[in-house]
Amino acid sequence: PATESKRLRIAMQKSGRLSVDSQALFASCGLKINLREQRLIAHVENMDIDILRVRDDDIPGLVMDGVCDLGIVGENVLEEESLQRKMDNDSFDYTVLKRLDFGGCRLSIAVPQEEDYTGVASLDGKTIATTYPRLLARYLKEQGVNARIVNLKGSVEVAPRAGLADAICDLVSTGATLEANGLKEVDVIYRSKAVLIQRKGLTDSKQLQLINKLMPRINGVMQANE
Ligand code: PRP
Ligand code: ZN
Ligand code: MG
Repeated sequence: PATESKRLRIAMQKSGRLSVDSQALFASCGLKINLREQRLIAHVENMDIDILRVRDDDIPGLVMDGVCDLGIVGENVLEEESLQRKMDNDSFDYTVLKRLDFGGCRLSIAVPQEEDYTGVASLDGKTIATTYPRLLARYLKEQGVNARIVNLKGSVEVAPRAGLADAICDLVSTGATLEANGLKEVDVIYRSKAVLIQRKGLTDSKQLQLINKLMPRINGVMQANE
């Protein structure tokens, strides 16, 4: 489908931590986007670009499968999808065009505030709930810790109180979510920012021209923000 139309397809998060900043970046680059709340595809009026508004977790796959040409996504989601695809022997090719200056967060292990946490070894034999099972498994393996991983798609922070897990591994930005759920951050396992990625094998000259036009603008916007 992506090859039929020569319009450049960019995937961005529909709603969530990256969506406002992604939209602002497009606007600063001169893209006139007609965003209607329920529309999943938005046409850029002044350039041959379509914006696909999707769940962040779907963005790496859309780019790796060549459905979208570019995507803005958190490195955490990108790395998790890559690890998963490596395990499944699926293709996970992409190019990072730019590490962006927003979407900063860390993937951390957190335990109940009253817990005496003496280091990662104390997680041995425990249960940890997370949305990032591959990143967590890699970390635990590196640390030589044996723990059971429970994969949850959301509301990870309620798992300890619900009796589902002893600890969690989730994204922390301000720390407000952990605080509100009686948890404390004890170990940072991954630091992430938003990145702009491009699919492998993009050869259409008009699309490449468009990207060559966008990149200096993105660099300019980021320099102005410094
Ligand atoms: C993350 C995480 C927490 C929240 C933490 O979700 O799951 O819910 O952010 O932020 P805080 O430390 O500022 O409270 P996110 O919005 O990244 O997205 P999701 O809907 O994909 O889980
Ligand atoms: Zn998500
Ligand atoms: Mg969340």
